[in-house]
Amino acid sequence: MKLFLLSLAAVFSILALAANAEGPGAQTMDVDLTKWTPPDIAGVGDDPFGRMVKYGYLLFTDTANQVGPTMADPAKRFAGNNLACKNCHLQAGTQPYAMPMTGVWGQFPQYRPREGAVTTLETRINGCMMRSMNGRALPLASREMIAFVSYIRWLSTGIPAGAKLVGAGTLKIAMPARAADPARGAQVYSQTCAVCHGAGGQGQRAETGAGYQFPPLWGPDSFNDGAGMNRLLTAAAYVMHAMPVGTTYDAPVLTSDQAYDVMAYVQSRERPQMAQLDVDFPNRLQKPVDTPYGPFADDFSPAQHRLGPFGPILAKLRAMGAAAAANDTNQPK
Ligand code: HEC
Ligand code: HEC
Repeated sequence: MKLFLLSLAAVFSILALAANAEGPGAQTMDVDLTKWTPPDIAGVGDDPFGRMVKYGYLLFTDTANQVGPTMADPAKRFAGNNLACKNCHLQAGTQPYAMPMTGVWGQFPQYRPREGAVTTLETRINGCMMRSMNGRALPLASREMIAFVSYIRWLSTGIPAGAKLVGAGTLKIAMPARAADPARGAQVYSQTCAVCHGAGGQGQRAETGAGYQFPPLWGPDSFNDGAGMNRLLTAAAYVMHAMPVGTTYDAPVLTSDQAYDVMAYVQSRERPQMAQLDVDFPNRLQKPVDTPYGPFADDFSPAQHRLGPFGPILAKLRAMGAAAAANDTNQPK
């Protein structure tokens, strides 16, 4: 075991050397998560860090029974719905292009347009706590937050900080040059999704405890309107490369048109609402074109920001951004 750890450390330092060989400012190395083998949770030891990693894994995969709204201790009710992180971040946060956590440890702090500031991994986790989980922020020093961060650090073992990750986030779809059609999406939904997620989008509860066998896609126990999954291009990219469950990015079941329409239908249903979404993206030129809530820098309709076509909005924002940059003489060079 010791020898194995030593050789891992050696491999890591060689990788780190390779990444830094040309000094700061040189091209960082790429890590292709589609060819990467993440570490195995069964191999985690019983030392203090290992125990924290295992608690993080439990929180990530069984969120509702650890910090969900039905916890007996009100102080532990952090999530506002009974989803689990892994319901979206598939395979416990290791599936490429299903927003994996692999390598994410070394990507923060980073500039985030939603906050308009450089923020930490903890802030990003709390973003999902407050939006995807429709809950409240974990205190930074809480055992839960330390466990999430430990789990993500451990999942990132062997990936240099700042590496360019292939397979992170979602795999973008070719943007259809039309508005999405929720009525056509309803047909895709009843043919392809309802069997698991339910005709009413309510999902299917797990046999024991809180949580779901098939998570809800709308209604009171779903993600709220400020979540990334409530943006059409993000959601369509995710679903095309991950759903029905078991689908991987390299063998999609849905066409991009079907993914676009079906998520427009899902997003047209009712879900919890988050307060004060108007303060998101303080630099409106950096607001993603498919953000379904205003205010916007452009004067395209709210409906077009929800359903597209997005091409014209993107072109307009680019033109406005170029104009703003050219006019900004106060920026230090
Ligand atoms: C309803 C779906 C959903 C759930 C549930 C969810 N997330 Fe997310 N998460 C997302 C989306 C969408 C993104 C943004 C992906 C992108 O930027 O393309 C994201 C991004 C993240 C990121 C940043 C990843 C990166 O590549 O920078 C972290 C960290 C994260 N989530 C942690 C969590 C944790 C921890 C939980 C559980 C407490 C959770 N998420 C639950 C949908 C979800
Ligand atoms: C065979 C069952 C099955 C089918 C069919 C299926 N899903 Fe899922 N879906 C799941 C499961 C299970 C999860 C959670 C995965 C996990 O926890 O590992 C999930 C997760 C999701 C999520 C993220 C979690 C959330 O609550 O938002 C979305 C979005 C989603 N599915 C959309 C769809 C859409 C759209 C379709 C139809 C095109 C579809 N699914 C078809 C089983 C299915």
